[in-house]
Amino acid sequence: MKAPVKACVFDAYGTLFDVHAAVRAHAARIGAAAEAASALWRAKQLEYTWVRSLMGRHADFAQVTGEALDYVLARHGIADSDLRADLMASYRRLAAYGEVVASLDLLAKGGRRLAILSNGTPGWLADAVAAAGLAGRFAAVWSVETVGIFKPDMRIYRLATDGLGLDAHEIGFVSSNPWDAAGAAVFGFRAVWVNRTGLPGEYASVAAVPQVASLADLQAHFD
Ligand code: LAC
Repeated sequence: MKAPVKACVFDAYGTLFDVHAAVRAHAARIGAAAEAASALWRAKQLEYTWVRSLMGRHADFAQVTGEALDYVLARHGIADSDLRADLMASYRRLAAYGEVVASLDLLAKGGRRLAILSNGTPGWLADAVAAAGLAGRFAAVWSVETVGIFKPDMRIYRLATDGLGLDAHEIGFVSSNPWDAAGAAVFGFRAVWVNRTGLPGEYASVAAVPQVASLADLQAHFD
């Protein structure tokens, strides 16, 4: 048996906050393409983070998210600046998944520290935490902006070990993004992949990462 982790660090977008809630809130204005548009928005947003990081041309997550949305709107032939503004505003106030609050409270029992480590900007993360009713639950919210490169650069994961004053193996890391969970495992965290939709496994050749169906199943891995 492994020792209980001393802290749990969470990815934000897609893990705590439902990245598809923004399009869902305006789905009627997008029509039948809404679901595909939301999936493409997320895929392009992530692609742009990796491409910028590899090129050494960082721009913050708000800008990258806007660039990805512009591509999606162009692909779907939508020219509606009000819709663009409304989608971006909704992205700042994404709903948390239903199990998040109760799961965080269980993991925090016994004084275990919880934190967020995210690509998001400090402003976006603060807004999302507040809008989802999660204020006060996190000992720290770290943004990649202090380093100026996106995950899964190893310097980003170091923000958590430095900030918590713990070794990587003492920290549980939770992400719904398999590439992020793999990066965290390579760094040395006790990483778990939250695979909400039963996707096939990925990145096993890079790092072995256990998976759960939701945050409600994390305790068995971290206690
Ligand atoms: C984040 C992205 C990867 O919150 O979802 O860092």
